Formats: sequence, C-alpha cells, structure tokens
Amino acid sequence: MNEGNTFKNQVIICHCSGTTEETIKALVLNNIFDFEEISRKTGVCSGCGSCEDLVLDLIMMARSHSTN
Ligand code: FES
Repeated sequence: MNEGNTFKNQVIICHCSGTTEETIKALVLNNIFDFEEISRKTGVCSGCGSCEDLVLDLIMMARSHSTN
C-alpha cells in the first residue's frame, strides 16, 4: 500500500463532461458563480443533467467559503 501517494484526488462531479470538483471550485474562486456560465465553460449539465443538484450545491458551498 502506498501511504505516500502524492496524486491529488480528483472527484468527478459531472461524468458526462468529466468535470471535477476542483475545476468548479477554481471557477468560483475566480468569481464565476453563475450556473449557466460554469456550464458553458465546463460542459456540466450539458449531457444527461443528473449532476445539476450536485453542481448547484458545490457552487453554493464554494461561494460561501470564498466570501468568508
Ligand atoms: S453527469 Fe453532468 S450532464 Fe450528465
């Protein structure tokens, strides 16, 4: 077992576009909070749409952390 794993965990939020949690957080940290804009830039919710609630929650959480 490799306890010294240096690879960053990449949590996929949208499997249709392959968008990770880190990508969405980075956009929010760059003051991009608008769901439509994030969708245009990353492709989230442009496929099956099942990630919508997850993306909205993540935007809300990342936004509250970025304003604290
Ligand atoms: S999982 Fe995001 S559009 Fe399908």
